[in-house]
Amino acid sequence: MLLHHYLSTLALAGVVYAINGTVTDYAPQINQACPNVTTDPLLRVFTPLNQSLHPDEEEYVHTRLTTVIPNEWNNWIGNGSAIGYNLSAFNITSFPKIGIAISGGGYRAAQYGAGVLSAFDARNESAKAAGTGGLLQVTSYLSGLSGGSWITGSIYMNDFPTIKDLVYGNGNSTQGWQLNLPLATPDGTDVFSRENQLWYGSILWSVYSKAGVGIDTSLTDPWARMISYHFLNQTSRANFFSNDSAHGAGQLWSNVPLIPSWQQHQVPFPIIQADSRPVGSNLTTVLDPASTVYEVDPVSHFESDQMITPLEFGSWDPQLSAMVNITYGGTHLNNGQPDNDTACTTFFDQTGFMMGTSASLFNGGLNDTHAYKQILDRVRNTIQGFDQNAAKAILLVLSRQLAKFRTRADDVANWPNPFYNLTSKQSFQDVNSDWLELIDGSSNQENVPVGQQFVRARGLDVIVAVDASSDIQNSWPNGSSLVTSASRITSLLQSSHRSFPPLPGNTDQFVSTGVNMRPTFFGCFPQQNPPEYPIVIYLPNSPPLNGDDPVTNTGTFQLDYPLAHTQLFLDQVHANVIGGFVPNANSPDPNFGKCLQCVAIDRARYQVNPPPARSSICTQCFQQYCFDPNNLTSASALTGRKLQFVNPDPEGVSALSGFLSQSKVALILGFIGLLLVVAGLSVFLLWRKRRAREAEYHKVMQLHDEDEPPFVHHDQYRDSSTSETVYELSDVPDTAYVPEEHR
Ligand SMILES: *[C@@H]1O[C@H](CO)[C@@H](O)[C@H](O)[C@H]1NC(C)=O
Ligand SMILES: *[C@@H]1O[C@H](CO)[C@@H](O)[C@H](O)[C@H]1NC(C)=O
Ligand SMILES: *[C@@H]1O[C@H](CO)[C@@H](O)[C@H](O)[C@H]1NC(C)=O
Ligand SMILES: *[C@@H]1O[C@H](CO)[C@@H](O)[C@H](O)[C@H]1NC(C)=O
Ligand SMILES: *[C@@H]1O[C@H](CO)[C@@H](O)[C@H](O)[C@H]1NC(C)=O
Ligand SMILES: *[C@@H]1O[C@H](CO)[C@@H](O)[C@H](O)[C@H]1NC(C)=O
Ligand SMILES: *[C@@H]1O[C@H](CO)[C@@H](O)[C@H](O)[C@H]1NC(C)=O
Ligand SMILES: *[C@@H]1O[C@H](CO)[C@@H](O)[C@H](O)[C@H]1NC(C)=O
Ligand SMILES: *[C@@H]1O[C@H](CO)[C@@H](O)[C@H](O)[C@H]1NC(C)=O
Ligand SMILES: *[C@@H]1O[C@H](CO)[C@@H](O)[C@H](O)[C@H]1NC(C)=O
Ligand SMILES: *[C@@H]1O[C@H](CO)[C@@H](O)[C@H](O)[C@H]1NC(C)=O
Ligand SMILES: *[C@@H]1O[C@H](CO)[C@@H](O)[C@H](O)[C@H]1NC(C)=O
Repeated sequence: MLLHHYLSTLALAGVVYAINGTVTDYAPQINQACPNVTTDPLLRVFTPLNQSLHPDEEEYVHTRLTTVIPNEWNNWIGNGSAIGYNLSAFNITSFPKIGIAISGGGYRAAQYGAGVLSAFDARNESAKAAGTGGLLQVTSYLSGLSGGSWITGSIYMNDFPTIKDLVYGNGNSTQGWQLNLPLATPDGTDVFSRENQLWYGSILWSVYSKAGVGIDTSLTDPWARMISYHFLNQTSRANFFSNDSAHGAGQLWSNVPLIPSWQQHQVPFPIIQADSRPVGSNLTTVLDPASTVYEVDPVSHFESDQMITPLEFGSWDPQLSAMVNITYGGTHLNNGQPDNDTACTTFFDQTGFMMGTSASLFNGGLNDTHAYKQILDRVRNTIQGFDQNAAKAILLVLSRQLAKFRTRADDVANWPNPFYNLTSKQSFQDVNSDWLELIDGSSNQENVPVGQQFVRARGLDVIVAVDASSDIQNSWPNGSSLVTSASRITSLLQSSHRSFPPLPGNTDQFVSTGVNMRPTFFGCFPQQNPPEYPIVIYLPNSPPLNGDDPVTNTGTFQLDYPLAHTQLFLDQVHANVIGGFVPNANSPDPNFGKCLQCVAIDRARYQVNPPPARSSICTQCFQQYCFDPNNLTSASALTGRKLQFVNPDPEGVSALSGFLSQSKVALILGFIGLLLVVAGLSVFLLWRKRRAREAEYHKVMQLHDEDEPPFVHHDQYRDSSTSETVYELSDVPDTAYVPEEHR
């Protein structure tokens, strides 16, 4: 009877365990059978002149464009009469191909992206009423970078719910982002609290499981796992500190084609963007900030743009122009061949790791004067940018990781190089390296991932640039990302990418024309047919048009948001996106929805030659929203905007600890109740269960230091350009454990 009870408890646990998965599902599987590369190559190699999409991408986008999207256009703008057109007379053979690109910028960018997507979503009633809701449904591509990749990964791995369900949870299929649990210190500022320690144990358990199969890890791996707790779908507030789910481990990016909304062609084709730094360049660890060695021209810069779709990983840049099957990402190939028939790696393409790679900012990046600014400095053991507690937590986790496993480069995402020794790509910077060092997609200053959408083979007509960069004072954008993308395309990528439409010549002009603080359309007046460039709709994060105090211009390193802040954040973004811009006013433009419809459909006109005339409504819209290099607007038309962030919830932090202490009280009461009701045997079983749970964390418990190591505050490392402070963890072991196979 006793034994029976015990066994059935175990069996039940086994079943549920199998369903929930475990955090060790983060481990890739090595030595897997490879496809026969003679018949099923793992690489696609091409040149800018014969570049082609993966056949599955081509098929997916085409099917969606021809079967789903026509109905969605009909739902959105009907026959076009409200904007002065009769669409049936357009003889449309193919609707415009539209992409949305969401910038980096941490939680700020993820929330800004979420707010914009919601304001374009026909499922949102007020967006639908305003006429903007519907654009998302006719979109073919969705790219994300860094913080923008978190919303991108999140929305797919949750089967494309509404933003409200995604961010706040719906109590059923979505659990919400839990942004009020700080990203690196979810149990609060004491990194040595029991819950924080158990949680770091869980994170490290995932990372060890990957390192244990012999794949080099780095700080990107624990970072990826931290991100997964918020943006993937298996973590709720109730199970945050438990190990009763895999917390997103094992959720593969290559599995996106299995989600129901993909199978029905209901969702755009997703792209996550990252950069790669030349291996061995050590772009940071030996950095002297005053040195000019790395003062690089952001345009002719040596990094390459990498993209990760649910099908492929690779780069369209002319010097690479090659893609590897993402299912086998993490496999080292030599001139396209695996080392042997069973030398393939699978399960490397963990969605958390894809989001972490895109947001791997630890090696720094370019600041306004194009010099490298390092964040993680392993020589001094410091990390910049993060606040004191997050910095402490990240250094602590890294030190425990390094105490057990060697990493290659601590501050980048380490990817085995599938492009090694590619004979046709001798000019690729890393052709002779066994590894790739991938870094934050914004490292070359292209913070809005529009580059992938300018690729010729994709043939986009309209690209929405969702820009939550922090370029200038008060963390607003100044257009530097688009300026960089445009000049990178002009100088390096003409063979592989379409041209950029005319823009303000530089960031100063972005600011003086006010284009950095309101929606603007670029490329409205092409000189050729077919048009020589796509239209770019620019949607910068900007102050509330009604003159309210802004809450959306937070710092990139703000890693927790009280719920009230997130709500107000999304509300402000929504109001600005549906509200457009009226010069010299603080009221929304009631016609902005129509103007968005005009610009979205405009390229359909060019399917006949000469194009039918623009309607008068659309002509009016284009006058109001199009950038005209010969008739510049002025920032002075942006009246009554408040620029300075005002914290909407100064009590937020105490609300967090309030929640935690409440849940602890509930926990204790629960235990007392159990003790009263159940007999001694049950107590024994409970104890066994708890011991088992703790045993699962034994690795971190062994490493647990009872005494907090002293943190040293170094004023001399203070970065004078910002108010960031640098923290150092002084007792991190220098010598890392090197697994046998790496010695
Ligand atoms: C791979 O396919 C080719 C072409 O069908 C065949 O000649 C070769 O034997 C196959 N290799 C293996 C290991 O099966
Ligand atoms: C493109 O051209 C290159 C070199 O001419 C060739 O090796 C490659 O197979 C071609 N790729 C495709 C997809 O046609
Ligand atoms: C659309 O096709 C019809 C019939 O072929 C033709 O009469 C009409 O001129 C076309 N419209 C445009 C705008 O080209
Ligand atoms: C819960 O979510 C599932 C899957 O999305 C859905 O089928 C079901 O209808 C939802 N239940 C409720 C009560 O909303
Ligand atoms: C969560 O993600 C996994 C992996 O993608 C998927 O199998 C599962 O259905 C998802 N759950 C929900 C509720 O979307
Ligand atoms: C699986 O997850 C559910 C929901 O979080 C939880 O109730 C259950 O206890 C978990 N099972 C195990 C074995 O941890
Ligand atoms: C990068 O660091 C390694 C190891 O310290 C060193 O051997 C190499 O020369 C460095 N490369 C450059 C370009 O400084
Ligand atoms: C950019 O970084 C360099 C080197 O670290 C520094 O000298 C410069 O002041 C920084 N510029 C800005 C605008 O932060
Ligand atoms: C990846 O390779 C497997 C095995 O050959 C194949 O079934 C799958 O379609 C490939 N995926 C892509 C995106 O090429
Ligand atoms: C195949 O290659 C892998 C990776 O290089 C290696 O670990 C494995 O031992 C090799 N297997 C055989 C059968 O040679
Ligand atoms: C590079 O690839 C070529 C062609 O497959 C091969 O002959 C050569 O041995 C490879 N070089 C290395 C260093 O593996
Ligand atoms: C310049 O733009 C303004 C609106 O921004 C418009 O009223 C004016 O007519 C334009 N002037 C010319 C010459 O196009």
